[in-house]
Amino acid sequence: MIICIGAGPGDIGYLTQRGADLIRNADVVAGFEAVLNVVRSLIPAQAQVITMGYRDQVAKLDECAVEHHAGKKCVVVFMGDIHFSGFQYLERVERAVGHPVESLPGISSAQILASRAKVCFDETTFITFHRRGDLSPFKRHLVHVLQDQRNAIVIPCPWDEARSFMPWHIAAYLMEQGISPEHPTEVWENLTRGEAEWHGTLAECAQHKCSDMSIMLIRTLAPMASQIEPAESK
Ligand SMILES: C[S@@+](CC[C@H](N)C(=O)[O-])C[C@H]1O[C@@H](n2cnc3c(N)ncnc32)[C@H](O)[C@@H]1O
Repeated sequence: MIICIGAGPGDIGYLTQRGADLIRNADVVAGFEAVLNVVRSLIPAQAQVITMGYRDQVAKLDECAVEHHAGKKCVVVFMGDIHFSGFQYLERVERAVGHPVESLPGISSAQILASRAKVCFDETTFITFHRRGDLSPFKRHLVHVLQDQRNAIVIPCPWDEARSFMPWHIAAYLMEQGISPEHPTEVWENLTRGEAEWHGTLAECAQHKCSDMSIMLIRTLAPMASQIEPAESK
């Protein structure tokens, strides 16, 4: 048995009860070190822990696949929710084991941000640049989202200098594409543990530096009016 589970972004309090049960009953628990650290207190003493990083993830997932095929109960722990900026890792798990793998959702940093910043999912689009491959379709989509008067919740790309697309790069790119520098913009760091928040305009964001563990909200300049029924006069 192998299952991929999401563990809330940073704090074990955001792990689902089902996720906690799966970890408590696992023979093998695998994941990136920062994520395993969140759930460490639940991992049984006798369980095998497979810790990986960006460079050795394929080899380590192969080790996990061997244990799965030997009949061990394996849990691969993902940061936040698997279904936002986690699918490429899921693909690697499935490639390692050779078949589709069940997933259990977690709470995403995007959900925590939406709750802190009070934005409604219905009027907001989620985009991640934290992925391998061509980012240009996602960059274009972000421009369209803002042109279409929706909010955007954006996970930046923190990797090497050549590829990184952090909030200051994103802000500069959007303004080059003709997006107004006046968009209210927020950058939230380390949500659920020692949080920091920054508020300004898109133009100011181009000058604001933040850590890798950041998520960005770009608000529309034209928020939708309420569409609920008129209040009854009292
Ligand atoms: C590979 S993505 C995974 C996102 C994750 N699947 C989720 O649902 O939150 C990792 C990036 O998510 C963002 N992130 C994850 N947890 C965060 C947190 N607690 N606070 C702020 N940003 C976070 C950071 O930009 C981080 O580099």
